[in-house]
Amino acid sequence: MKVMAFNGSPRKNGNTAALLRRCLAAVEAEGVETRFIQLGGSGIQPCRGCNACRKNDREECIIKNDPLNAWYAEMKEADGIILASPTYIWGVTGEMKIFLDRATYLARARLRAGNLEGSLKNKVGGALACHAFTGGVNAIQQMHSMFFNVQMIVPGVSYWPVATGLQPGDVEQDAGGLRYAEELGRAVARLVRRLDATKNLA
Ligand SMILES: Cc1cc2nc3c(=O)[nH]c(=O)nc-3n(C[C@H](O)[C@H](O)[C@H](O)COP(=O)(O)O)c2cc1C
Repeated sequence: MKVMAFNGSPRKNGNTAALLRRCLAAVEAEGVETRFIQLGGSGIQPCRGCNACRKNDREECIIKNDPLNAWYAEMKEADGIILASPTYIWGVTGEMKIFLDRATYLARARLRAGNLEGSLKNKVGGALACHAFTGGVNAIQQMHSMFFNVQMIVPGVSYWPVATGLQPGDVEQDAGGLRYAEELGRAVARLVRRLDATKNLA
């Protein structure tokens, strides 16, 4: 069982990375493997709107010189996906938005070709955000939009997993934000385990 996690911040060691690592430690404590991917700074290119992925159900983007296709192939094998982003103007970062656009469209390619089940269906999703003041919930909702659009399952937690901080390291002082990030990690991992235990049921 594996959970893939994407850090949408351009800061490799910023607040979002710290929050995500807390969350992933909770996932691993439940016996589920994790993989941390640095999305910010990866050179991911924006969707060109060419609709090539709609014209077949291969789930492959026409843009071949960035990591999205390789990540997507791995996402299809994973059991869960956790997305984390700093809040940029009440939303996710530009790179996370590009990821949402392109990964969502790839995951919907099979649906558009007439299949009832996309390849991310029933994988478990979780979203985390950092903000300095306000807007973290908006960023989380943007990331949830992908999960719901591709038939994934999102476990509830007892509060929004948003942590507050401006400068790198600030979120280490936000005990509540860290606690909810850990709760999200536990919730994702436990749901992954439950779904894995029942995967042979119709
Ligand atoms: C371009 C830009 C836009 C931002 N917009 C917001 C915002 O709308 N609301 C907010 O509370 N913080 C905003 N911030 C602050 C970041 O969300 C905050 O510093 C966060 O902790 C950065 O996380 P990181 O260290 O992982 O990059 C913005 C920062 C930048 C650089």
